[in-house]
Amino acid sequence: MSTTFQLDTATSRANPTPAPMKRLTIPALRQRKVDGATTQPIVMLTAYTARQAQLLDAHCDMLLVGDSLGQVIYGLPSSVPVTLDMMIAHGAAVVRGSWHAAVIVDMPFGTYEASPTQAFESAARVLKETGCAGIKLEGGLAMAETVAFLSARGIPVMGHVGLTPQAVNTLGGYGARGRSAAEAAKIVADAQSLAEAGAFAIVVEGVIEPLAIAVTKAVPCPIIGIGGSAQCDGQVLVTEDMLGMFDRVPRFVKRYEDIATVISGAAARYAAEVRDRSFPGLEQTYQPKS
Ligand code: KIV
Repeated sequence: MSTTFQLDTATSRANPTPAPMKRLTIPALRQRKVDGATTQPIVMLTAYTARQAQLLDAHCDMLLVGDSLGQVIYGLPSSVPVTLDMMIAHGAAVVRGSWHAAVIVDMPFGTYEASPTQAFESAARVLKETGCAGIKLEGGLAMAETVAFLSARGIPVMGHVGLTPQAVNTLGGYGARGRSAAEAAKIVADAQSLAEAGAFAIVVEGVIEPLAIAVTKAVPCPIIGIGGSAQCDGQVLVTEDMLGMFDRVPRFVKRYEDIATVISGAAARYAAEVRDRSFPGLEQTYQPKS
């Protein structure tokens, strides 16, 4: 994409230069998959802050405000303690920082599972208070009724099956799913039930590759893989993982940078210069005008 983005410091918007671009819509993204085939794979990354969104926006079709922010931003042990208010604050920041990508906000654990009505009330708050394009929720067949309820009431829903991190306490960990024939069949059925209920796309996380391919073939809406297969209709990664922010990442993460070394190296140089009094120098200090 040749368009560049400039930060408007007055509004915190990522203004496209030279031509204004229209934000991608959910129907346009859904229609990337026609008759089971997606010629233009969907690019999605997580974003949690306005500045991060500004940097990612031009390169992505969707920005996901994932509840992984619990671990990545807040140092929580899992996504289970993440609240709706946390998701709304970060979702609004990402919408302010983006112009082009469709922004999807995760529904946190405990805000949608009890009933379709509970899900609608939570999701309506997310849409109203962030300006995002849609929400994502975890779960398969058990959530199909809720997906249909939300979709019929103007709330675009992205599903999430396979390894569902909010269910870590029942799954017992974050290992790959679908190794047994029974579990693989259930994951395909889960994805099919969400698509039939109206999900516009479905994340398939942490499954063996043949299963990711089978789900992509079996389901009419786009399948976004994470720990899946390059044959999925799109891919998502946690941005901090692919930037190399953490020492330990799942096997499916490819590190495109080593940002942790960059940050700690800069902090070390800053600390040394403070200690030897070489910072601030002449260029960083105000001198009397002559
Ligand atoms: O919370 C998140 O970041 C996610 C992605 C890993 C798909 O759900």
